[in-house]
Amino acid sequence: MNLISKEIEQYCLNQSQPDTGLLQALVNKTLKEEEIPQMLSGPLVGGLLQLLIKITGAKNILEIGMFTGYSTLKMAEALPEDGEIHTCELMEKHVKTAESWFNKSNDGYKITIHHGRAIDQLNSFKIGSFDLIFIDADKINYPEYYRRSTTLLKVGGIAVLDNMLWDGEVLNPKDGNAKALRETAELIKNNHRLESLLLPVRDGILIYRKL
Ligand SMILES: C[S@@+](CC[C@H](N)C(=O)[O-])C[C@H]1O[C@@H](n2cnc3c(N)ncnc32)[C@H](O)[C@@H]1O
Repeated sequence: MNLISKEIEQYCLNQSQPDTGLLQALVNKTLKEEEIPQMLSGPLVGGLLQLLIKITGAKNILEIGMFTGYSTLKMAEALPEDGEIHTCELMEKHVKTAESWFNKSNDGYKITIHHGRAIDQLNSFKIGSFDLIFIDADKINYPEYYRRSTTLLKVGGIAVLDNMLWDGEVLNPKDGNAKALRETAELIKNNHRLESLLLPVRDGILIYRKL
């Protein structure tokens, strides 16, 4: 399903702040060398994350699903000097690639990579310690990522979940991923201690605030 036409997406990109040169280089290399470059969240989602960080004054961020480091670096660029990002990634190959980009950036010192299954990593973080959590890893585990992230968020903290429309498949979920994403959206909607909004940006961005 084509959620948004290529022309409209390009127009939105043209009217928005562009990525820095380093991020553009990261995107180009990812497009050239990675098997599934569509995993990049991209400048519209990245720009939204940056604005949320700046508007809310977020300082402590958790990311679940790093890939080649695009969204991590995009968020690090928006953080103040004493801001921190903890990011979880399963695949060693991506950890190495992302590290090489972080080493080239003046904001790389804000990033700590946690290599391994995100579910295992999440137990090591302090409850109520994050201002913003970006969930963008394996879709089947989204219900569990949502549960644990809600505990890890501070009151007033924000979670952002990518791919919540899953190319439209959530309308009539057939496989495990689509079912897990639909279940996550419903868990969030029915949690009265959260304020939530699902936006048709790219592949669907769900944002919620912990009350
Ligand atoms: C959609 S990509 C992340 C894209 C990234 N946020 C960006 O904007 O460029 C999902 C990433 O999650 C990783 N991943 C998949 N399952 C995981 C798991 N169980 N624990 C940690 N990372 C996982 C994948 O290896 C992949 O790099």
